[in-house]
Amino acid sequence: MADAIQRVTTGTGDPAWLVTGYRTVRSLLTDDRLGRTHPRPESASRFSRSAAFDQPRAASDTERADHRRLRRTFTRSLSASRMRALQPRVTQLVEDRLAALERAERPADFHGVVSQPLPAMVICELLGVPDRHREQLVAWSGQAASRDGGERAREAYVRLCRYMAVLAARRGGPDDAADLLSALVREHTERAAGLAAELFLAGHLTTSTAIDKALVLLLSRPDRLAGLPPEEHLGTLVEELMRLPFPGGGRDTARLLPRYANTGLTIAGQPVDGGELVLLAVDEANLDPREFSCPADLDPARSPNPHLGFGHGPFSCVGAPLARLELRVLLGLLATRFPGLALAVPVGRLRPRTDLISGGLWELPVTW
Ligand code: HEM
Repeated sequence: MADAIQRVTTGTGDPAWLVTGYRTVRSLLTDDRLGRTHPRPESASRFSRSAAFDQPRAASDTERADHRRLRRTFTRSLSASRMRALQPRVTQLVEDRLAALERAERPADFHGVVSQPLPAMVICELLGVPDRHREQLVAWSGQAASRDGGERAREAYVRLCRYMAVLAARRGGPDDAADLLSALVREHTERAAGLAAELFLAGHLTTSTAIDKALVLLLSRPDRLAGLPPEEHLGTLVEELMRLPFPGGGRDTARLLPRYANTGLTIAGQPVDGGELVLLAVDEANLDPREFSCPADLDPARSPNPHLGFGHGPFSCVGAPLARLELRVLLGLLATRFPGLALAVPVGRLRPRTDLISGGLWELPVTW
């Protein structure tokens, strides 16, 4: 696999550059000449029709400083020590979901009972969203994350933002110190509702897809969950599950991180003009044989594992500690409660959600 750059057309029919190859993708993720804003967003290439994630933001003089300030709020609220404190609550939520799975008729839909609701429950907990509103928010964010966008998707995104605005209006007092929405209100007042909506989308759809993918990868192996490493090594396994793409997934569902050139630059020998869209192919980079030996194999003990599944550099995933916690707790409890868990249909019959920007599955039938 050479470090390559090629001309492609996005799903919206706009021109873009697609970059593959681990070294180049990784170095571009920290390159200041690429960013997520554009001087004229309305004329920039779009990377999807989705209502929530489709085109660059407007460039501004304060964008870097604003972004750094925002990350400080996120990283404080989602720090490793906060995650340690959250672990008992996440464990409780996982146990509740596994009890629901136990009660379900076999074959049961793991996606519907566990992968889909669990991350939404966790992010609702962090934002202080009442449990009775969760299903409505999940429905809106599912519509907002549709690749095709359209009026319905835009309306769903607006409703999600309006809901967060109502919730935000009740926050910001000193008593709310520990809650993430309160921190957003205190430190980013005007933008708090939009940020909370983005966080809700970013935090639950991605994690739900990651849980489905982890299950499919593990249950496709001959020893399935019986071969899971002991608890203290589950973190290493989680990194490997984050590195690998969905089995059988094509470029349609592959993870592409969009960037815009702030200035003209040369990538792998190809001149790229300022303002052009550059798509960084994370899944292909994570399978680069020059970086990962036997890259297509699931090696539960792979270390080091500098995968790009959570991105890299200034925009890398601030929710990674939370996603890692959810996966680790879930896999640990699954191995003890459901050691005989198996896919109820062949992998080839699982239906991918090509309609969502977050990918994932329509359902994941399992038995035990
Ligand atoms: C396994 C689950 C997850 C995956 C695979 C994932 C993946 C990613 C990736 C690849 C990026 C970088 C995007 C880029 O460079 O353009 C990112 C950014 C982000 N993620 Fe995640 N994420 C996950 C879970 C979460 C969770 C649970 C949260 C929130 C609690 C979250 C919040 C965010 C935010 C706010 C950003 C933007 C950071 C910034 O702009 O500086 N993510 N995520």
